[in-house]
Amino acid sequence: MAEPFRAALRGMFQAALERLSADGVVAIAPAELPALVELVRETADSKHGDYSGTMAMGLAKRAGKKPRDVAVEIIKRLDVGDVFEKPAEPVGPGFINLKVRDDALARAVTDACGDERLGVAPVDRPETIVVDYSSPNVAKPMHVGHIRSTVIGDALARILKFRGHHTITDNHLGDWGTQFGMILWGWKHCRDDAAFAADPTAELGRLYRLVRKVADGKPEELAADPAAAALAQQYPDAGREVLAETAKLHEGDPENRALWEQFMPVCRREIDRIYARLDVSFDHTLGESFYQPLLAGTVHDLEARDLARESRGAVGVFLDGPDKPPLLIRKADGAFLYATTDLATIRWRMEHWKPDRILYVVDHRQSQHFEQVFETARRWGVGSVDFVHVAFGTVLGDDGKPFKTRAGDTVGLEALLDEGVARAFGVVTAADADRGTGMPEAERRRIAETVGIGAIKYADLAQNRTTDYTFSFDKMLELKGNTAAYMQYAVARVEGIFAKGGIDRGAVRREAAAIAFTDGRERALAMKLLRFGEALEDVEADYRPNVLTAYLFDVAGAYSTFYDALPVLKAEGTERTTRLALCDLTGSVLRTGLELLGIRVPERM
Ligand code: ARG
Repeated sequence: MAEPFRAALRGMFQAALERLSADGVVAIAPAELPALVELVRETADSKHGDYSGTMAMGLAKRAGKKPRDVAVEIIKRLDVGDVFEKPAEPVGPGFINLKVRDDALARAVTDACGDERLGVAPVDRPETIVVDYSSPNVAKPMHVGHIRSTVIGDALARILKFRGHHTITDNHLGDWGTQFGMILWGWKHCRDDAAFAADPTAELGRLYRLVRKVADGKPEELAADPAAAALAQQYPDAGREVLAETAKLHEGDPENRALWEQFMPVCRREIDRIYARLDVSFDHTLGESFYQPLLAGTVHDLEARDLARESRGAVGVFLDGPDKPPLLIRKADGAFLYATTDLATIRWRMEHWKPDRILYVVDHRQSQHFEQVFETARRWGVGSVDFVHVAFGTVLGDDGKPFKTRAGDTVGLEALLDEGVARAFGVVTAADADRGTGMPEAERRRIAETVGIGAIKYADLAQNRTTDYTFSFDKMLELKGNTAAYMQYAVARVEGIFAKGGIDRGAVRREAAAIAFTDGRERALAMKLLRFGEALEDVEADYRPNVLTAYLFDVAGAYSTFYDALPVLKAEGTERTTRLALCDLTGSVLRTGLELLGIRVPERM
């Protein structure tokens, strides 16, 4: 497979810059080259060619030369092979603009059509990458906050894998925390056996919500919930008792342990149902409880290496000197903490999976926790590995505040999915009535599940992950604009051509050899399609799935411009072959792109 355009061009610029330095025009250290060649990027406007190199400006400044002169010297040394048109001279202050030759572009389309990777080269150096994501605290109902980690983590894992990395996905369940103290206390004081027999998850959820209010003892919450208020009055010490239940569980108390073992499968069934609807799965689900046997040893080892020490009965790692707050790894009452588990987990993963990178797809509010855990792990000497906290912002409601129900509760994830699907059913039904296609209800329901869930996932992925994001069903279900429904419809539209013309896509791929461009809109679409691999590379650079959604939206736009202006089925000869090949590749790129985002495409819409 030919090298993708941008990578090839960066290699060509690297060679030119090495010669520039050897010839004494501007001194460039070898270590600077990677950052300099990254300044070869796609142009914003194709008027200026397909790619542009902008390094002349910076290099000129430090050499005390004119940027244009430096650009001229670079161009002199640039060997663009038979892939690009050789630029005659720099543009503006010193931009070096390059255009892919039409014959090279046509060859690349042919190759991509016949390639199951659609022309995307795998990475040169595959790494083992652990992706820690979703990781909800079980026994609490999953809520809207969990969608971001689940959806972003799943998309990143799929993309990294497609790029050729060895990915290991791990759902680090919070299955050992204080929430179990609440359920255990609730079970012992106010359970409803009949309700548990009928719907165990619902009953555990009820106990959790009730006991949390009793244990927290906030007057305004108790005032709004008479059942909680009555319990709080009857058990004024509930808060402390709840903590004691958790401690007993951790110490191995047989009764609490047996109850935990009874509750866990119930909790797992609940979240697994949600994962199935979201089409998300994990290679491993090793929750916090799995590392419990390793925690005491972790604390001992850190103490023995003088990294941790006791302070007022607790044990902490003092990363920034004795006066700054330490990272606590054991409380004065002997309890281990979230950080202790994370440290033990790193050790375990290093021993068993030997990763080069570990990604943590977790809310930005935990950034300090991860900074401290990563630094402690480095000093502990766990081995050479990159830790990345892939942080994301909060989900907001229309009012700009954290997304809540009218009653002020956090929004349950399942109810949210149900509402998205119900609204999608309305949209699908209206579109069907509009077109008079008369789809049976069962089919409309199936499509609505795909469109509704897709809408929720895509709306999240299309956001810059680091900003807060405003949740809006109305916006995410629009049929125009950068939405899942629009993209899913685009795939149906492109692929519909083959059905309509009674055309065998396999034959299109075999004949794609004879392609040539006669119109700028064909060329523009082809160029976009061949940047699929570059978009995926850019996603990995910053762990931003929204780079892929933006790319796919651009592809759909370039396709519309092409398709609205040029006949395909009615064209003849090479024009027809070329255009059918472009339709085929568009369909494949959009479909594969959506799959990499974890978004399904309905058979018809
Ligand atoms: N269970 C945690 C929470 O809900 C997230 C865990 C993230 N992963 C980790 N290794 N700490 O906040």
